[in-house]
Order: sequence, then structure tokens, then C-alpha cells
Amino acid sequence: MNNTRQRYGLTLILLSAAALAGCKDSESAKAKYTIGFSQCTVKEPWRVLFNERLESAARQNPDVKLTTLDADDKTEEQVAQMKTFIRQRVDAILISPKESAGLTRVVEEATDAGIPVIVLDRNVNTEKYASFIGGDNKAIGAAAGRYVVEQLGGAGQAKGIVYEICGGLASTPAQERRDGFHEVVEKEAGIQIVGGLDGDWKKDSAQTIMQDALKTNPNIDVVYAHNDPMAHGAYLAAKAADRAGQIKFVGIDGNPDEGQRWVRTGELTATFLYPTPGEKGLEVALDILAGKDVEKHISLPTRLFTKDNVADGGELIE
Ligand code: FRU
Repeated sequence: MNNTRQRYGLTLILLSAAALAGCKDSESAKAKYTIGFSQCTVKEPWRVLFNERLESAARQNPDVKLTTLDADDKTEEQVAQMKTFIRQRVDAILISPKESAGLTRVVEEATDAGIPVIVLDRNVNTEKYASFIGGDNKAIGAAAGRYVVEQLGGAGQAKGIVYEICGGLASTPAQERRDGFHEVVEKEAGIQIVGGLDGDWKKDSAQTIMQDALKTNPNIDVVYAHNDPMAHGAYLAAKAADRAGQIKFVGIDGNPDEGQRWVRTGELTATFLYPTPGEKGLEVALDILAGKDVEKHISLPTRLFTKDNVADGGELIE
């Protein structure tokens, strides 16, 4: 009796654990299309927002059954999720890859299996997908560069030290945000860019990186971090060392409750909007399933938020 109850209890625990750990399906009894979405992580607020917006768009469409999986920042996990979607023969796959190299092969595999793959935000090293949708990271990096040059005295006269904190350098947004920024700022003989360590997009890592940087660099004028969580982590480290007042912090993402709020409070000097690509991804998937032609590369616009314009929705960057 005891044993049976224990076993029954264990089964219940296992079942509910499986339900919790498992996927989130958008409700739909007899949806026309099954769409799988593999999200690389939900550890940063930008991705939580990305999922919320996509899931809400999917819920509004009775034709769609969306299954969202979280790869918990692990490439192998994400590969396994993609293989599951291929095995299930879903109608379309949305993926926001952890990194490029490790996810390239499985994206090709899904495409070869006849499943349209829409790659979101971070790209892979192949053209074998149906569509890529994301912000123009090179342009965002260049816009951040122009902003920083302006803050340091303007083109031709700018002077100062910029400490850069990179996102995960195995991913395209980090590479492009770095390259776009360097192309602009390296033209300025008076500006020195230092740092460049990989903070893997995480606030904690950036905070640690900045703690060390402050010890060896007494004159940092600007921190350019590849996302807002890292810019804010750097700000917290500088604040703890009593140096925040002498440094400008520039980030990317511009979430209303994160980067935009930090710009309003003066913790960040500026942030650049990096729109979440989920809703557009779903729209493109449905276009493909309806037999329409879609663009191979879709670029989402950015905006600059500073203390002066954040209340008015920022400034569109062309
Ligand atoms: C979230 C995130 C964002 C960043 C994007 C780049 O995981 O780090 O902060 O803009 O990914 O891929």
C-alpha cells in the first residue's frame, strides 16, 4: 500500500516535472500549421520579451500551434531540439541560434528535409534557410560608433578611451556590433578602444570584467557594451568603485523596462533599439506556408534612446 502510494506519488511528480520542463504549446485544438520555435536562452529580458510577443501573436491565430523550446544557452541542446522538430515533421521552424557554427549543420538538415527554417536575430554560416530576420547589427554598431565619437568631441577632434565589452563572439550580432563600431571609431586618431573581452551577453560577466578593467584603466571615458544587461553590469561595477560619474555607458536592446528605463534614470547614457523579431518571423512562416515568396533577408529598424528623447520614443536611425 505504502509502496503503491509512493510509486503513484513519484509518477505524479515525474509527470508534472516533465510538463514543467517540457514545451509550451499555444492552445489550438485543430490548428492547420504546427510551428516549432527553438529559442537559445531566456536568461536575458530581451529574449523573454521576444517569446512573449511571438507567443501572443501565435495565440491570436487559430491556424497556428506554436511549440516553444528553451535551449538554456546550450548549443547541443538546441541541435537536439531542431532534430526533434525535424523528426516530428513540423510545418515550419523558427530558430534563434545560440551561435553560428554549431547550429549551421542542423539548419541545413531541416531545410534538406523540406521544412522551411526562419532564422531569427543570430545568423548561421549557410544560405540554406528560408529567411533571416533581425536588426542590422553592423549598422547599429556604426551608429553607436558615431554617437560615441560625438560624445568625445566630434569627428576629427574626438579624444578619449573607450572600453568595449563584447557579446558572445561566436554569434553574428557580437561580431557585427564590434565591426561596425570599429570601422567608425578607428578613424579617430584621438580615440583608443580597449577591452574587447567576451561577456557572453551576461550582466554578471560584464560586471566582473569591468571590476578588473577599472583597476588597470584609470581613465575610461565610455563603456560600449554589446547589450544593455552588460552595459548595466559595467555601470554597477563602476558605481561600486565610485567611478560611474566619470564614465558614459552605451548599450544595445532598448527594452522599455530595461535599457530605456536605465537611460531615464541616467545609469546608461544611450541605448539602441534592437527589435525582437518573433512576430515578423511568424508572419514570414505563414507567408511561406501560404505559398508566397518571401525576402531572404529582412532587416528591422533601430532607434537611439537618450535622456533627451526617451520620453518621445527615441530617434529613428536611418
Ligand atoms: C539576448 C541577447 C540580446 C542581444 C541579442 C543578440 O540573449 O543577448 O541582449 O541583443 O541577444 O543576439
